[in-house]
Amino acid sequence: MDSKEIRDKYLKFFEERGHKIVPSSSLVPSEIDPSVLFTTAGMQQFKPYYTGDKDAGMDFGSLNTASSQKCVRTSDIEEVGDKTHLTFFEMLGNFSFGGYFKKETIKYAHDFIVKEMKLEIDYVSVFEGDNEVPFDEKSFEIWKTLGIPEEKIKKFGREDNFWGPTGSEGPCGPTTEIYVNGVEIWNLVFNEYYCDKNGKFEKLENPGVDTGMGLERLTVTMQKVDNVYETDLFKPLMDKIDELSKEDNIESKRVIADHIRTAVFMIADGVTPSNTDRGYVLRKLIRRVIYHMGVLDIDSANM
Ligand code: SER
Repeated sequence: MDSKEIRDKYLKFFEERGHKIVPSSSLVPSEIDPSVLFTTAGMQQFKPYYTGDKDAGMDFGSLNTASSQKCVRTSDIEEVGDKTHLTFFEMLGNFSFGGYFKKETIKYAHDFIVKEMKLEIDYVSVFEGDNEVPFDEKSFEIWKTLGIPEEKIKKFGREDNFWGPTGSEGPCGPTTEIYVNGVEIWNLVFNEYYCDKNGKFEKLENPGVDTGMGLERLTVTMQKVDNVYETDLFKPLMDKIDELSKEDNIESKRVIADHIRTAVFMIADGVTPSNTDRGYVLRKLIRRVIYHMGVLDIDSANM
């Protein structure tokens, strides 16, 4: 199954279940989220719907949405070149702002993975609880009713099974995650709290749902390839880089493929190279591409 079909199937699955399909927002976050340089998650464009500042029913004609969101995360930029790290990826997500909660979220995710993608779930994880947020017993029980045996429902702490907020404040809450072939494939977030600038948690009046599944990671699993650069999302780019390279260095080839893709999407969203903020990140990506072109002895006149 190619990546386009996977993306289409995901969006169709949720459209058929009453979700309004919303286009990806820009990689440059709106004034809603001035505390982050780039869009890093599908939920970002929906932040005001979780807090009740905006009304999803009015804006989307539904309390539930789904999207395939362009995301940039550069915190692991030095790791790019291995089999898994990327600076740009697409996040498939379904969201609810007071429409449905844990039962439907988990059932949808289970059915999409098991029935639509025909993958086998290795295990799932739920939030074990701490002194601020209790054990997510509800999610634990729902997984059991779906036939996941207790020993395959792992309990993890704040580090693994709690999400958000993006930036300095916003919606956040416990997560339950799905693992396939030993890899975390889907993060289901239950936004039950609002975390303010001082790190104080307050229960949200209308708890919301925010899920995120990386298209690239799902495509690796579906196409049964060893790494993301062997999927159809990267293959044509890798073939071209192979053709232009006079030296052989797989890490450098991957860095070029990843960084060029990210730079193109940034530029398409209006970012230009500069000495500060977003422009600085773009300039860094381009400089790194040029460095690795040197490693591979690629002549830029041929590009
Ligand atoms: N916001 C969560 C994440 O980025 C789930 O979509 O993983």
